[in-house]
Amino acid sequence: MVKTTVSILKADVGGFPGHATVHPELLRIASEQLKEGQKSKKIVDFHVSHCGDDLELIMSHTAGTDAKEVHKLAWDVFLAGTEKATELGLYGAGQDMLSDAFTGTVRGMGPGVAEMTFTERKAEPVVAFMMDKTEPGAFNLPMYKAFADPFNTAGLVIDPSMHYGFVFEVWDIDEHTFVNLNTPEEMHDLLCLIGAKSRFVIKRVFPKKGGKLPADEPVAAVSTEKLYQIAGEYVGKDDPVALARAQSGLPALGELLEPYSLAHLVSGWMRGSHNGPLMPVGVADASCTRFDGPPRVVALGFQVKNSKLAGPVDLFADRAYDLARSRANDIAEYMRRHGPFEPHRLHLKEMEYTTYPKVMAELKGRFKKLE
Ligand code: F6R
Ligand code: MG
Ligand code: MG
Repeated sequence: MVKTTVSILKADVGGFPGHATVHPELLRIASEQLKEGQKSKKIVDFHVSHCGDDLELIMSHTAGTDAKEVHKLAWDVFLAGTEKATELGLYGAGQDMLSDAFTGTVRGMGPGVAEMTFTERKAEPVVAFMMDKTEPGAFNLPMYKAFADPFNTAGLVIDPSMHYGFVFEVWDIDEHTFVNLNTPEEMHDLLCLIGAKSRFVIKRVFPKKGGKLPADEPVAAVSTEKLYQIAGEYVGKDDPVALARAQSGLPALGELLEPYSLAHLVSGWMRGSHNGPLMPVGVADASCTRFDGPPRVVALGFQVKNSKLAGPVDLFADRAYDLARSRANDIAEYMRRHGPFEPHRLHLKEMEYTTYPKVMAELKGRFKKLE
């Protein structure tokens, strides 16, 4: 049986205005080029969207993950987007394009990637999550809650097909290693790591062996690109994307979405250097304004059949997320009152912009020994 791959490839190739949102012309160019890719059968289906200043290409196909022709298609969209952004004078044109030449994959070249290959079930609900003004570790809490927290996901307790839990693939971003941890058995170890969200990130979630779903096919995947590691210097936040499948032995759609009702604190926001609440919004509200934020998350829902994407439904546009948005605004207001003080401002080592070394150099000699 042919397996389906769903891929989200994303890049900030120019903001409008500043880092607020994506210019409609870039969305139009992306749709046009992906339509051509569909005609030439590189992909089966697609949807173009944006979250904040990030251009999001959601594609379905049968070429598997890391497929050269699919990545090239997206790369060419980002190149064309960069060209248009330059012509229109958009802000930070080509910001996430860290390389000039395509080498076979966009991984390690700037854009973010989340991909999943799986055997389609009779009905296959898939959610594409897209965040702006934050980092990959922002997905740790909601992915943990959806797949491992019985207070979030009722199915872990009362659905016999989910009762045995899931396997989390966790990456150590600093050491370039990964570990698989089983829940619920290793839940405390898992939390010990992923609570440190700037270092340990959930990359994928798998079903356990012996269940209804193949244990080697992911049920969730998160982009983990760290631009500063690629470029060796600050070049923008690593605004992440993720995919998750739902229902029949997996978290229900509503269990996948439930964690975002918290508006949890994430790092990013202004100059990638502040903690703030993650606000769940519909696409129409996915423009970052107040203090370049607050950080946003959008969720688009699809039903996948024979690699075709029915949808999307703009899931967080629902009024049921009004309270989360209102809470996010309250938290944003509270955090902002702290100005340059931690924990609104990030820890010295985690700030994307810093004057600290310069300030210390200038004050050198003025520090006196304490008795
Ligand atoms: C955060 C972000 C923005 C910019 C800020 C300053 O991820 O992209 O908050 O960091 O607008 O931008 P520059 O330094 O380009 O003026
Ligand atoms: Mg930007
Ligand atoms: Mg962005």
